[in-house]
Order: sequence, then C-alpha cells, then structure tokens
Amino acid sequence: MSATITSIGIYHPEKEIRNSYFESYLDTSDQWIKERTGIERRFYTAPNEYTSDMCVKAAQNLSKEYNKDLHDVDYIIVATSTPDQPMPSVASQIQSRLNIPNAGTIDISSACAGFVNGIILAKGLIAAGTHKKILVIGADALSKVTDFIDRTTCILFGDGAGAIIVEKSDNNTLFNTITGTNGDYGKDLYLAYQDASISNTKVIANNKLHQNGRVVYKWAVQTLTNGLQELAMKNNTKLEDIDYFIPHSANYRLLEAVFNELNIPMNKCLDSVRMFGNTSAASIPLAWYNAIKEGKLKLNDKVMLVGFGGGFTYAGILIENNCV
Ligand code: COA
Repeated sequence: MSATITSIGIYHPEKEIRNSYFESYLDTSDQWIKERTGIERRFYTAPNEYTSDMCVKAAQNLSKEYNKDLHDVDYIIVATSTPDQPMPSVASQIQSRLNIPNAGTIDISSACAGFVNGIILAKGLIAAGTHKKILVIGADALSKVTDFIDRTTCILFGDGAGAIIVEKSDNNTLFNTITGTNGDYGKDLYLAYQDASISNTKVIANNKLHQNGRVVYKWAVQTLTNGLQELAMKNNTKLEDIDYFIPHSANYRLLEAVFNELNIPMNKCLDSVRMFGNTSAASIPLAWYNAIKEGKLKLNDKVMLVGFGGGFTYAGILIENNCV
C-alpha cells in the first residue's frame, strides 16, 4: 500500500530570544554561539504555553494552508521529549482539541529522531492497510527543561512544532528507511525526573536536559555521515542525485563537518538551527516548511530526512516532496 505526505504546517512561540540574552548573565558571547553552533535566535513558549498548545497550532496552520479536513484523521502520532505530562498523551489531547471524532493516539519518545520515526510508523500503518490518514507532529518545548545556568547547553535549545499528514495514495513518495540505536550512550544526553540509572550510571534527576557536548558531537558527525551513505545505498541511489537533505538541526558546524566530509554543497542542506536553535523533534519540519516558503524545495524533489539524538538513536527516510 503506497503513502505520501500531503501537507505541512508549523508553529513557533512568539517570544524571540537572541544570543545577546545569554551575554546579559553568562560568560558567553554572540560570536562564540554563532561560531560554534550557527545559532542566531530561538523562540520560547510562554509560562502557560505547552507542547500540546504548539501541536494544536501547527495542525491548525496545516489545515488552513492546505485546506485539509482533519476530521477523518484515523491516527495521531506526536513525537516529543517534552510532553505536557506523561499521561494522558499529548496526542490524545490533540484528538480532543481538534475535535477529531475517532483516532488512535500515541506519543513516541525518540528525542531528535522522533519526527522521522513518526513518519516511518505512519508509513507502516498505511502499508499494513489498517489506517489511511495519519497526523504526525514533532514538537518540543525544550526551554521548559533547560538548565539556564549551564552555558554549554542553555544556548542551544528552542521551542517549536511541525505537523504533517501522511496519507494512503496511488503514488508512493515514501521510500526506504534506516534506523539504529546505541543505548550505551544514554547517559551522555538525558532528561531525568527520578533517581533511576541510565546506561548503568547514576544521573542528575532534576528534570533538566544534560549532555556531554563533545561526545554527542563526535557521535552525531559519525552517525549522520554513515547514515546518509547507508540511506543512499538502501535506496539504490547516489548522494549526488538527492536534491535536498534535511538532517536534524542540532548545530550548523556539525552539519558543515558532515557535508564537507561527503562533498555535498551546503546549499543542499536545509536547516532550522540558525533561526530556531535546536528544537529536537520539531527541527526537521521547521526546516522543511521554511524551504518550501523560500521557494527552494519544489514538487517531486528527492529529499533525505535524518533525525539523530538522545538514546543515542537515529532514523532516516528518503522521500519525494509532495508539499508546495
Ligand atoms: N560560551 C562560551 N564558552 C563556552 C560555552 C559558551 N556558551 N560553552 C562552552 N564553552 C567553553 C567550554 O567551557 C570550553 O572551555 P575550556 O576549553 O576552557 O574548557 C570551550 O568552550 C570549548 O568547549 P567544547 O565543549 O569543546 O566546545 P565545542 O566546540 O564542542 O562546542 C557544543 C560545545 C555544546 C556547542 C558542541 O559540543 C555541540 O554542539 N555538541 C553537540 C550538541 C548537540 O547537538 N546536542 C543535541 C544533539 S541532538
């Protein structure tokens, strides 16, 4: 059974945070942040604004822009590491707030690989013949779990959401995928709220994001470099035949290292990190939507999406763009 992505919508909160905000209270600088990460600004949710609020707005924006009826959506997948609460799921709240009469709902937790895992799961449900129209949302409110006195992490993260509809179609535009995990690295990027150990290591359980930046950086460069090549091989294609790449927007310098290694020009790399910071599960749809708006991404362009992050885990898929 074939599937395609028929529409996309995004949302980011109103409050814009420039790098100068961190200069005001930390030993850091706009220049350091730009040179090491590429980030110029990010957006933060208001104190009473949560992941579910961003998801609702992203889905409503999708519906408005693409004139999409959401009432016959039969499954909702929300990828997030920052749900409003562990239970009920964000997806179940989206079902209620969008008045979708009867949809299965699930939140998935695979950090910055969440959005691509959502597409892979939606593709599988459609291929199984059990569902026809699936709302997949990647959303994170990382400002709610940021340790604002840790200068190595607080400058990186931002909030946002991106929604797509994956539908049964005669024309298949979702091709082969890659997935993988090395859970030994769990302790190097985590968000813990109770005293359990991660990868056999005691961690700080204060509901704030912690990372070993250098370890993450090294793993991410290696994983993305190998992942793009593996994805090309699995799809029997070459990287030079791909029109655009949308890797998870963790850090622009990291993306440059990968693209230089693979001899891919940076104008083929669509990112959201410079304008939104690292928004985890939202980073890929934010970059995708903006590339459509900027007139870069065209109908039928071949695009590789690859998410990678906390776990450590990664997921990738080759698609043909069907959203303009
Ligand atoms: N401002 C100024 N200096 C800073 C700083 C900041 N915001 N953050 C760290 N530094 C300092 C460090 O303390 C260190 O100083 P030292 O040499 O005196 O010890 C120096 O800068 C270099 O630190 P290092 O960790 O080597 O920097 P880096 O070039 O690796 O950049 C990150 C740090 C966090 C930007 C980088 O490691 C990174 O992006 N890692 C991946 C993070 C990521 O993508 N996470 C999410 C994955 S999904």
